[in-house]
Amino acid sequence: MVEAFNERTIAGSRAERYAVAAREIAAVLDGEPNLGARMATVTAMLAATFEHYFWTGFYLVDPEKPDELVVGPYQGTLGCLRIAFGRGVCGAAARSRQTVRVDDVQAFPGHIACDSRSASEIVVPVVDSDGRLIAVFDVDSEQPAAFDADDQAGLEAILRQVFAKG
Ligand code: SME
Repeated sequence: MVEAFNERTIAGSRAERYAVAAREIAAVLDGEPNLGARMATVTAMLAATFEHYFWTGFYLVDPEKPDELVVGPYQGTLGCLRIAFGRGVCGAAARSRQTVRVDDVQAFPGHIACDSRSASEIVVPVVDSDGRLIAVFDVDSEQPAAFDADDQAGLEAILRQVFAKG
């Protein structure tokens, strides 16, 4: 399965590609309970699927400091290690527990520029089966306005499937 994944490309619309990615992720993670393994696999599979992704990864709610995010599994250039709730796009998504889509990160108040090549961003809250916020999933793109409603729906569905239901 993993080898086949690494040598494939998915055709179709963005929504169709998210649906295929969701099935592939579920197949690879079947029977794997470890949270770190699940997060690393989601990150790698999505980063390998979508060309508009530049930085892809999780910021985890720190159990020691529950109002702070700490970087988790990611693919991309060096990310900031810690983000306070309410700061930047990740902190806004963590505080509001709502997905935040930003077409132009320069125009977002308090945006944290880990890499100046990031132009637009989507951050999706990640909730476990008890409804607890455990992380946010952050994707940055080098293209402005790279993320649309299909990215939001596709990512929300995958993260729900993997972390709230799986
Ligand atoms: N830009 C994010 C910070 C994380 S990085 O881009 C990897 C933000 O404002 O939350």
